[in-house]
Amino acid sequence: MIAKVDDLTPGSVKKFWLICQKYRLDAFLINDSGSFHAYVNRCRHMPTPLDFVRDEFLSDDGRFLRCYTHGALYEFATDLKQFAD
Ligand code: FES
Repeated sequence: MIAKVDDLTPGSVKKFWLICQKYRLDAFLINDSGSFHAYVNRCRHMPTPLDFVRDEFLSDDGRFLRCYTHGALYEFATDLKQFAD
């Protein structure tokens, strides 16, 4: 179990390890106004985690995921291939 639904309030993020065959991947789960999305914690631009060192995933207004290396913004419900405007 990653978290109980009630423990992950809207707009919050919970990191977890995703075990995939013999690999352990850094991943996170986000509550997007009651819709839950899980992602591998990796930027689409370079092989670095989105939160890098800061353990922060969201833009200042909380509407997008943000890569803290270069500041790219991603919409929550996409497959992290699209940059937000
Ligand atoms: S490393 Fe994430 S946008 Fe460049």
